[in-house]
Amino acid sequence: MRQHKAQGRMKGRWGPAVAVAAISLVLGVGWTDAQSVDTTKREAPPDSALATPATVDAGRLVFHGRGSCHACHGDKLQGGPIAPALTGPKWRHIDGSYGAILDRIDQGMTGTVMMRRPGRITEAQVLMVATYVWAVSHGRAQP
Ligand code: HEC
Repeated sequence: MRQHKAQGRMKGRWGPAVAVAAISLVLGVGWTDAQSVDTTKREAPPDSALATPATVDAGRLVFHGRGSCHACHGDKLQGGPIAPALTGPKWRHIDGSYGAILDRIDQGMTGTVMMRRPGRITEAQVLMVATYVWAVSHGRAQP
């Protein structure tokens, strides 16, 4: 009899706790979903989840710094006597996708002064500067 009562109380106590946990779980999941949807719409390009403002800023530094990309492609990516503009939507030899931009920076273009990894930038810097070029050429960031 007593045990029964105790069990009854236990259920009564745990019931709300479980409900709260379940609700938090649902809310938690809902919140995460909302966050990732927001991020996708606001920042992440369709073909790269890397284009966060921080990555773009880091890439801008590489472009005007160690990569010395600006020396040939111009301060505003406008191009110059040596190299084409990187502003899109027209490109010289690539399709302008994130992957193509990344490949060109990583591999260079044989027979031109576009060497692979200009300035001997690291792999991480290749990713950053590619993200920057992608973002600027797709209207997602200022040069
Ligand atoms: C010494 C000059 C020079 C430097 C430095 C340089 N580039 Fe280039 N880049 C070129 C030339 C020239 C081309 C055109 C090659 C060709 O004919 O397709 C080119 C092509 C490209 C392309 C493909 C453009 C297209 O329309 O096909 C991208 C993207 C690019 N460069 C990014 C960069 C980035 C990012 C950096 C810095 C990390 C950089 N370049 C540094 C000269 C340079």
